[in-house]
Amino acid sequence: MKIFLDTANIDKIKEAASWGILDGVTTNPTLISKEGKDFETVVKEILEVVKGPISLEVVSTDWEGMVEEGKKLASYGDNVVIKIPMTVEGLKAIKALSSMGIKVNTTLIFSPAQALLAAKAGSRYLSPFIGRLDDISSYGMRLVEDIMVIVENYGFNCEVIVASVRHPMHVLEAALIGAHIATVPFEVLQKMVKHPLTDIGLERFLKDWEKLKE
Ligand code: G3P
Repeated sequence: MKIFLDTANIDKIKEAASWGILDGVTTNPTLISKEGKDFETVVKEILEVVKGPISLEVVSTDWEGMVEEGKKLASYGDNVVIKIPMTVEGLKAIKALSSMGIKVNTTLIFSPAQALLAAKAGSRYLSPFIGRLDDISSYGMRLVEDIMVIVENYGFNCEVIVASVRHPMHVLEAALIGAHIATVPFEVLQKMVKHPLTDIGLERFLKDWEKLKE
């Protein structure tokens, strides 16, 4: 499973990259705005650290505007992926950008039917938002299961990015389903590392080692 970091914070990205397990980064306008820096500065900082796919989102809502923005964003680097929202205008933009060889990540997917259309339009990545479905008493992970079946049934050249991840169990369940990628907040990554028995076990090993020296 590939692990992406869902943040625009360069310190968190550098830290996760230093752990040797970071495959890419996803951002959105909300995450970029949290950094309090101009967009281009944030993007250049991320590009210096991350060699894997970096998703940058358009803010236009008409397809021509999305395509223009997408072309500009793609020029920042070969590993930039354009995040397009799952709307009718979005579908037109996905088709146009992917026909130009620009990789697209379709965002704000909340149903299998939306995922099917995005895949047909040529989206390279599909991002179902599972936490937001859980928030409204819907089973987010069921959406991931359905999308995986659709992708496999038709051999779409797509990877599923499990997004809106809120805790380690989301990542684990996604991995058991076989989802290609989970994009996670840094705090979730930190929680995935920790286990109290690991800490207790290490403390005991070190204490016993010290006893040997006495
Ligand atoms: O990857 C999508 C993500 O940024 C949305 O997460 O927690 O705002 O639903 P959240």
